Amino acid sequence: MLVFDLPSFPYVFKVIKDFYPPPKDTSREQIKGKYLLVKQHDRVGRMADTQEYSEVGFPRERFDDELIAEIQKFAPSQLEISDRDGDGKVEVIIKHVYIERRMIPLNIYLQEAFDAGLEEPESKAQIERAVTEYGNAIKDLVAANIFPGDMLWKNFGITRHGKVVFYDYDEIEYITDCNFRRVPQPRNEEEEMSGEVWYSVGPKDVFPETFAPFLLGNNAVRDVFMRHHADLLDASFWEAHQDRIREGHVYDVFPYDPERRFSLKLPEA
Ligand SMILES: Nc1ncnc2c1ncn2[C@@H]1O[C@H](COP(=O)(O)OP(=O)(O)OP(=O)(O)O)[C@@H](O)[C@H]1O
Ligand SMILES: [Mg+2]
Repeated sequence: MLVFDLPSFPYVFKVIKDFYPPPKDTSREQIKGKYLLVKQHDRVGRMADTQEYSEVGFPRERFDDELIAEIQKFAPSQLEISDRDGDGKVEVIIKHVYIERRMIPLNIYLQEAFDAGLEEPESKAQIERAVTEYGNAIKDLVAANIFPGDMLWKNFGITRHGKVVFYDYDEIEYITDCNFRRVPQPRNEEEEMSGEVWYSVGPKDVFPETFAPFLLGNNAVRDVFMRHHADLLDASFWEAHQDRIREGHVYDVFPYDPERRFSLKLPEA
C-alpha cells in the first residue's frame, strides 16, 4: 500500500501498489478482497472503515514531485496526470484509492515516548496505554474471528480519543482458517543452531511464540506487554478461541467505554 495525506484533511489516501515482491505473496485483487471482507465484517470498533473511490482528481500543485515519483515507481498503473476537463488545470488522477481516518501509527506514538525519556511519568503512561490498548485491540479482533496477520506496531494507529485501531488488511485471515502451532523441538544440533526456519511452514500456519522478537525489542514495552498480554504469545490462547468460535459462542464487544454507553435505568419501585 502506498499511503499519503494532505495536512488539511484528517484522512489518509491508500493506493494498492502494482508489485508485491516475495515474501509478500499477494495481488491487487487479493488485497481488494481483504478490504471488502473488513467492510462487510463486524469491525468491533477496532478496524478502520474505508471508503473506496475511483478516478479521483487532485490539483497537480497539491502534490510534491517526490510523491509523484513515488507513485510512478510503485503504482504506475494507478496514475494519470492530465487536463481531464480541458479547462487548463492539470490534475493528478488516481485510478483507485481507499480513504480512511488518519491516526498516529503506534510505532511513532511509542517512539515519541522513548524520545521524551523513559523516566518521564508521561512517557511511562504513554507506553502503558499504547501497549495495553494494542493487546486489547487484538483481543477484540479475536472475539470477532479476525487474525490481523501482520501485527507489527506500524500496522495499528491511535485515534484522537486514544483508541487503538488496526488498519493493514493485506494479510488478514479468519481465526478459524488459521493453523496455530508451536515451534517444534529441534531434532539435532544442525537444526538447533540454524539461523533459518528449519521446520516446514504452511501458508496458514501461525507461530504465536515467534511474535515476541518482532514486537518486544524494547524492555519498557516488553514489561507492559508481559504483564497484560503474555497469553497472545501462546498457541493455546488462539486455539481456545478457535474452539469457542467453532462451537458457535459469540462474544459481545462494546466499542465504547462503559461510561459512554447508553444504559437503561429503571426507576426504583
Ligand atoms: N489510517 C492511517 N493513519 C495514519 N497512518 C497510516 C494509516 N494507514 C496507513 N498509515 C501509514 O502507512 C503505512 C503503510 O500502510 P499499510 O500498513 O496499510 O500498508 P502496507 O502495504 O502494509 O505497508 P507496510 O509494508 O509499510 O506496512 C503504515 O505503516 C502507516 O505508517
Ligand atoms: Mg503495513
